[in-house]
Amino acid sequence: MTVLKKLSVTNHNKSFKYSILIGDDFIDILEKNFSKTLKGKKIYVMYDEFFYKLKLIKTLIDNFKKLSTKFSSEIFFFKTKSKDKFKNFENLSNLLNYILSHKINRDSVIISVGGGVTGDLVGFASSIVLRGVKCIHIPTTLLSQVDSSVGGKTGINTKHGKNLVGAFNRPEGVLIDINFLKTLPERELFAGFAEVIKYSFIYDKKFFKYLENNTESIRKLKSPYIENTIFRSCQIKAKIVSIDEKEQGIRAILNFGHTFAHAFENLINYDDKKLIHGEAVAIGMVCAFKLSVYLNLCSKKEAERCIGLISKFNLPTKLKDIKNIKLVSKKLLDKFYLDKKVKNGKITFILSNGIGSALIKNDIKEKTLKIFLDELINE
Ligand SMILES: NC(=O)c1ccc[n+]([C@@H]2O[C@H](COP(=O)([O-])OP(=O)(O)OC[C@H]3O[C@@H](n4cnc5c(N)ncnc54)[C@H](O)[C@@H]3O)[C@@H](O)[C@H]2O)c1
Repeated sequence: MTVLKKLSVTNHNKSFKYSILIGDDFIDILEKNFSKTLKGKKIYVMYDEFFYKLKLIKTLIDNFKKLSTKFSSEIFFFKTKSKDKFKNFENLSNLLNYILSHKINRDSVIISVGGGVTGDLVGFASSIVLRGVKCIHIPTTLLSQVDSSVGGKTGINTKHGKNLVGAFNRPEGVLIDINFLKTLPERELFAGFAEVIKYSFIYDKKFFKYLENNTESIRKLKSPYIENTIFRSCQIKAKIVSIDEKEQGIRAILNFGHTFAHAFENLINYDDKKLIHGEAVAIGMVCAFKLSVYLNLCSKKEAERCIGLISKFNLPTKLKDIKNIKLVSKKLLDKFYLDKKVKNGKITFILSNGIGSALIKNDIKEKTLKIFLDELINE
């Protein structure tokens, strides 16, 4: 049995539905669950460059070719560059030119196999080429499995900022193969755990206890702990997205820790040698807990327990963990105003009012924030 777990993503009026399938053999899952979508079609496999770098490309291509023979499909392959700096117009254009020059048609299917960068880029391309063709995501990093492949957001970065050009695009399906995590660099794996832990902080105290009690087994990708962890994470994100797909309300809680994280990432110029996104989120969540305690929304004891879980997953928890950065409260405040959640000149923070519960706060006075930040920076 290769499908170990399955869940559906939908919206509040059930106008669409697709499945997330978690298993350990994505080719087999494709064959058994997507034959109708793929049979006799042109299939465009857009794969992350890591397959090439880790010499896994031959196996990937051979497996897809066998599948296309069984399905009497035509198959094409295109390598995508990973890392955020390549999620841009130039690579979008290269990808679109490739599929257009290989005569994509409305019945064709695009498959992305890679991390969040590949998924966002390919998902966006599939939403605009011929005004939209079918897309299947096969996310290969933990972050893309539990976060970016769920919820339909796709897009690219521009010189004006991250993810500023994009579209909501619902895939045909998402296939999560846990074997991909075995080749993922440790740093990327732990960065993915930051988003996993976040779901427990904002939504589910029982899941928090599960993560706390099974940290070692989850970190070592032991079965069934890692499958359960990915499943619950996707379930929580899918649930929140189903209530508020276009981020008009509750979906904002998924940004817990992110107002701080985005400010840090911007201050270090998105230099991934200094900090990758999940690490920024980890430190950002610590800051959000401290602000919650400062505003008497969350008890110090609960906040410390949560910060403890972040460090158990090998993630940074201190501002000092950010290399070569001189933090000044005024500069941080300025960066907060760049956040997409700023409305009518008010900064929005997602804060905690206890483990498993989050709230949206946009009425903190700038003076209060400044005092808090000065204390935080001088800790
Ligand atoms: N669409 C959304 O809702 C959403 C949500 C969160 C993040 N994102 C986006 O996701 C992106 C980050 O995604 P990411 O963290 O997956 O980064 P990534 O795609 O850059 O992948 C990280 C690195 O891991 C490599 N890699 C991928 N899978 C591997 C594997 N199985 N084994 C070995 N190496 C592997 C990649 O080649 C890359 O070098 C950002 O662009 C972010 O904006 C989107």
